[in-house]
Amino acid sequence: LSLRRRLQAPGNMLQFAWRPQQFIARHTTAAPIHQVAMPGASPFFVADPELIDEVLVGRSKLFIKDRFTRELSLVVGNGLLVSDGDFWRRQRRLAQPAFHRERIAAYGAIMVDHAERLASTWREGQVLDIHAAMMRLTLDIVADTLFSTGVDRAIAETIGDALDVIMARFSDPTFAFLPWLADLPLAKNRRFREARTRIDGAIRGIVTARRASGRDEGDLLSMLLRARDDEGGQMSDEQLRDEAFILFVAGHETTALALTWTWMLLSQHPEAWAKLRAELDHVLGDRPPTLADVPALRYTDWVVHESMRLYPPAWSIGREALEDLELGGVAVPRGAQLWMFQWAAHRDPRHFPRPEAFEPERWDGDLARRIPRFAYFPFGGGPRLCIGNNFASLELVLVLASLARRWRPVVRAADRPRPQFSITLRPVGGMRATLQRR
Ligand code: HEM
Repeated sequence: LSLRRRLQAPGNMLQFAWRPQQFIARHTTAAPIHQVAMPGASPFFVADPELIDEVLVGRSKLFIKDRFTRELSLVVGNGLLVSDGDFWRRQRRLAQPAFHRERIAAYGAIMVDHAERLASTWREGQVLDIHAAMMRLTLDIVADTLFSTGVDRAIAETIGDALDVIMARFSDPTFAFLPWLADLPLAKNRRFREARTRIDGAIRGIVTARRASGRDEGDLLSMLLRARDDEGGQMSDEQLRDEAFILFVAGHETTALALTWTWMLLSQHPEAWAKLRAELDHVLGDRPPTLADVPALRYTDWVVHESMRLYPPAWSIGREALEDLELGGVAVPRGAQLWMFQWAAHRDPRHFPRPEAFEPERWDGDLARRIPRFAYFPFGGGPRLCIGNNFASLELVLVLASLARRWRPVVRAADRPRPQFSITLRPVGGMRATLQRR
């Protein structure tokens, strides 16, 4: 990098921290791929869908997860989301059966059950943090489907609090760019380590209880406990804890966010809300949704698509180059960090006219097939495609249908939160909503 670009680095970091939306937009419209000077690592921003395709699919073997994601393993252990290479491949094969189509179909009833139960505790005029409510709901669903266990309040709160601390830590750009700061004896670092210990303890409790009971629940946890590799070896307690933990976290944080932003968008767009309600009345009448209703819930599905277009819960994906290579005519050295932004790709006017408008109807017809594969990629793609993508898609439609058929959570304009560009796209300060019975 030239001296001039190097001098820009601290300024870039501050702009990224203060105005991430504008910063990402500016640097992804600048070129299909280009390097952005920042302290520590000067990442390449990969904006062109064809180049993203090369990184995530075509030449995926030449990349591992980026440095920040790998740093995440300090907190979450070496589970699926962060592991790489042969170890990752083996673990993915072990976990995959829990996500087979038939398994997921069986989960549908559990998802609706939890949503209906929540809906029956809500009261007319009640004001609540709808983000917190969605987090608790999706946590219960993951616990019940993948681990066949209820999550008592203490464990739920432990996981929730610890996630808050972790997200805050990873949204702080000074930590992201200058990782050695994490080793200093700061109060922030201490809270962070305590959060990690608390989560560890909670998950360990679940795994130990299952080992002790020895029961085969036919769920993910039992599959992982039973799984043997070619030499007959089994997962150590530590590996099991890492995998359980990542599925717990990845399995509820993102889905809750998709639902949360959807409620905000539906409040902002009464015409979309009216169409959603009309569809639910028509398809469901007065009963809860079932798996069989899903194909008929087309508008509901478009709402979910459109919501994840504008507020992708996973707003960026990062990789590191394993060797010197060339991408889109640009030399990318070994060790380089590459960042791809769903947030920006999903707003490209070439694929999404009126990109800032919330228009579920745009998903009617063949839009998904017409646009390049990586013009819209809320679940990533290639070998590292989200293992829970079918699970999440089903959960989003069923939960939305189940709650919206009875309730309308209204988010006032003044209460619309800013998104926080942490590992995931969280609403800053939660999201206040008032419940209206329909
Ligand atoms: C991976 C998004 C729901 C478990 C990913 C990736 C994305 C993503 C973008 C790829 C990251 C990369 O390539 O670096 C989402 C979104 C969700 C969601 C937007 C909901 C709306 C879930 C659910 C589960 C889950 C429900 C589990 C029950 C995982 C795991 C990985 C992953 C384990 C790592 C897979 C691997 O690398 O083998 N997710 N996810 N996710 N997701 Fe999801």
